This record gives sequence, structure tokens and C-alpha cells, in this order.
Amino acid sequence: MNWLNESTRTLAVIGLHFGDEGKGKFVDKLTTDWADIVARGTGGANAGHTICIGDEKHVFHLIPSGILHPGKLNVIGNGVAVDPRVVVEELDILKSKNLATDHLRIAYNAHLVLPSHLVIDRLRESGSGKVGSTLRGVGPTYVDHYRRIGLQVRDLRNKDALWKKLKLNLEEHACFMRSFDREVIRDIMEHEHLLEGAYFRPNDLNVVFDSDAIVEQYLAYGRLLAQHIEDTDALMYQAVKSGQRILLEGAQGTLLSERYGTYPYVTASDCTTTGLAQGVGLSVRDVDQTLGIAKAFYMSRVGGGPFPTEMGGEKSERWCAKEGVTRDVELREYPSVSISKTNPIDSTTTEDFFMGVAIRRHGNEYGATTGRPRRVGWFDLPLLRHAAHVVGRDIALTMLDVLDACPEIKICTGYIYAGPDQWVGNRQLTDGHVISCAVPMADILEHCEPLYKVFPGWMSDITGIRSRKDLPRELLNIVSFIESEARVTTRVLSVGPDREQTIFDE
Ligand code: IMP
Repeated sequence: MNWLNESTRTLAVIGLHFGDEGKGKFVDKLTTDWADIVARGTGGANAGHTICIGDEKHVFHLIPSGILHPGKLNVIGNGVAVDPRVVVEELDILKSKNLATDHLRIAYNAHLVLPSHLVIDRLRESGSGKVGSTLRGVGPTYVDHYRRIGLQVRDLRNKDALWKKLKLNLEEHACFMRSFDREVIRDIMEHEHLLEGAYFRPNDLNVVFDSDAIVEQYLAYGRLLAQHIEDTDALMYQAVKSGQRILLEGAQGTLLSERYGTYPYVTASDCTTTGLAQGVGLSVRDVDQTLGIAKAFYMSRVGGGPFPTEMGGEKSERWCAKEGVTRDVELREYPSVSISKTNPIDSTTTEDFFMGVAIRRHGNEYGATTGRPRRVGWFDLPLLRHAAHVVGRDIALTMLDVLDACPEIKICTGYIYAGPDQWVGNRQLTDGHVISCAVPMADILEHCEPLYKVFPGWMSDITGIRSRKDLPRELLNIVSFIESEARVTTRVLSVGPDREQTIFDE
């Protein structure tokens, strides 16, 4: 791994797009070959990574990806929104397979997800402020933290404090709850994530949450998690001081960061290096190196929000958001759309929307838990320029094999602004303005029309290639173009899902 500096002790792996860039493979490899500690610092159960235990695949949401390595501490840092139900469930899976779990540490001061947060997420998503949330209560948990009415993981161990803080928290939300039909809330609370109605208070028309039931259940979680809860800020500080190798595992991606992403269609934490370092109790100055991960030469997005290069535009967005659409439904609806060597898919003759369906199918771009289709678009340089500016210039390109059978590959090099006059700082955007570095605001991006440069594809199977020099010339041309246009250095190229299908800097 020549790209990894000898002196690096803390390394962050960060998504450069909208999440799902394939970070897991790098985290896994780096955990096995390099790290002493793996730590998460942002997001919550809205993230997901697949862990294979024997022949079975499990999607884990909160436990860090290094959990299958018992010699390495796995830390859930203070910046994570912790739903104790999810952690307990994930620990149970590991224990049922006789796997070690005592190397998991959870920050005593991490944000605690409450049943009310899951309800609020669902209520908000049913209204006009919909962002396509994963409905894991993450946004409302962070909101409560900033409103200074949030709870922390340590409250699971202190009955009186839990009771008092929960009471205040629920009082603050009572007015919002009253603005919804009680039956609507009751239906939501029947969801399995809310223990099928266990927290609903049936006989009191003024109150929806049964605080006794919540306290009892949360104290039970506290007992189950007790051995894992600790001051992980101190632990991380000591780890840095003693020169341990720390791998910071990013969740989501830069374009979903509440600070640097396509606001307001973002998640509620800063999933860049800054937020991640802070979320494990470190300073960004403690991070020696960052590896930004981007899919190539396409992108994907889950949920709402602008996506200038989306194949099939609004039609794709509508289809992917449609209730009940999953991988299987899509396959039934469009059985003949696919890419293969014998059936290449050509962007000059195929309607954009179907190009998107084909790439989605070939790249298996469906939610790991829900099976829902991810929106798919061409690689977007203005967005990469922005993300690399925020996160850093060493990058890995993943999923390269997905476009093996595309005769033509389009790279978005800039946008033409086609919207109302708007001020961005001291610069006014007017109709026809050319933009080369994305301004990541939804109300600007939604008026950006992509300009494309078209490259010939390589039309051959690259999944067996292990050396950069053996990659097709057409593919390397596109990589060089991206490197020079976005001023990034490609340190790693991923040509398939397996760990060995990875080409490191030579
Ligand atoms: P939330 O964080 O669940 O509220 O979701 C906010 C937005 O971020 C939605 O558009 C989600 O689809 C998106 N999002 C959150 N987590 C992930 C992720 O791990 N991968 C991709 N998109 C995500």
C-alpha cells in the first residue's frame, strides 16, 4: 500500500459522493492489514455495511466494520446517534455466532436515539419537508442535541437522570405531537423499530408516549450495553498519544454532509473529515491522511435532492422514490434492460432512464436493507472538485467494472446555470453562467444543466486485472482526465467487489 505514508497514524476513509461509494471494502482491508483501532464518529443506524459471517450476510448499521477482528478496538464515538435497540440486536447476532464482542466501545456521551425521534422522523417525512430520510431517527436526535434537550448513552445507566431528561424531552415535543392525528401516531408506533406499539400510551388522550415503558426498556438496554460504555474520547486521545494506528470509518458521504452537502437534502451530521474527527473526540489536526472514495464513472444517490447528471432526470427520481419499488419489482417491470458483453448498453441509442436502470442492475445499486433502487447518474466533476476541496486530494475510484460493457462514457465537466438570478456570496449567477466547481446548494444545483465530454469505453472485462499498467488505455485516459481536471490523485482503483480486486498505487 504505497499510498499510505509510513508516518500515518490516523487515517480517515471518507465518501466523496452521496454515500454507498464502496468504503466498506477499504475499511475492511485497512482493518485487516493496518489498523489497531476502528472508529465511527458520525451518523447512526442510517448507515449500513454488510458483514459476512460464514455463508450468511448481515447488514450492520451501528457497529463499526472492524468488529470481526477481536484484537482491534471498535469505537462508536461521541458524534454518533446511537439507537440502543440496534446495537443490542447487532451484538446478539455476533454472540449467536459465538463471535467476540468485548472489543466494542461506545462513547458514554454519544447521542441517544429515543422512540420519539423515530416517530418525529416519520411524521416530518410525511409532510412538505421530505428529504427521503432513512427514518432511523437520526435527524431528530441531532436536532434535540442542538436544542439542548438531547439524551446521551450514559443516561441508560442512570435511572433518575433518564427519567428527568426524558420527561423534559417529551414535554418539548408534546405540542408538535398534538398537531397530528393520534391514530396516525399510533400507526407509526406499531412499527417493529418501535417495538410494535410498546411505547404507545393508549388511555391518555393528551399523551402519546408511555414514559414508564421507555424508561424500563432503555434501562434494560443500559444493562445489556454496560460493559461497552466508556469515555472513548479519553481512549482516543491516549491512542493518538501512544502512536496507535487509528482508522476513522466515514459514514454517508461529503455531498450529504449537513455542512458541505447539497443542503437541505443532506443528513444531519458532518460526514467529512472534520465531523468524523470531532465525532470520535479528536481534532482534525490529528488526522494524518484521508482517502476519499468515489464511484467511477457513475454516481448514485438515495432519497430526494438535486442530482444534475441523473440518468433519466425526474423520471428516474420519481421511479426510485415510488412506494414499493424494489430490485425485484424493477426486474419485473423492465426485464430486458441489462448490460453484458453480449448486450452492451450504448448511451447514444438508449434512453437515459433505461441506461440508469441497466447500470443500477449491473452495479447492484439497491439499498442493502430495503432493496430500494438508488438513483444513478454520470460522474460529475463539478461535484468532485467541491468534495475534494473539502476532504482532500487522495482518492480511490470504485465500481470501475460496472461500466465494462459501455461503448461510451460521459463525464460531466461543468454546468450551465439555467435558473433565476441568484447571489452566491458576492457573485451573481445568471442564466447561461458556466459553473465548473459545484455550489452544493439544492436551489442552485437544481437549475444546473450538465455539460458532458464523451469518452470511448473499454468494452472488456477488467475484473481480473491487478496492475494499473494492465488496465485498458481507454479507462486510464478517463482516470487521467479526472485527475487533471479535479486536481486529485487516484491512489486506488477497485475493479470488483472482492478484496483482491483492488489495484493500489504502484
Ligand atoms: P437521514 O440521515 O436518514 O435523515 O437521511 C437524510 C438523507 O441522507 C436521505 O436522502 C437519505 O437517503 C440519505 N442517507 C442517509 N444515510 C445514507 C447512507 O448511508 N447512504 C446513502 N444515503 C444516505
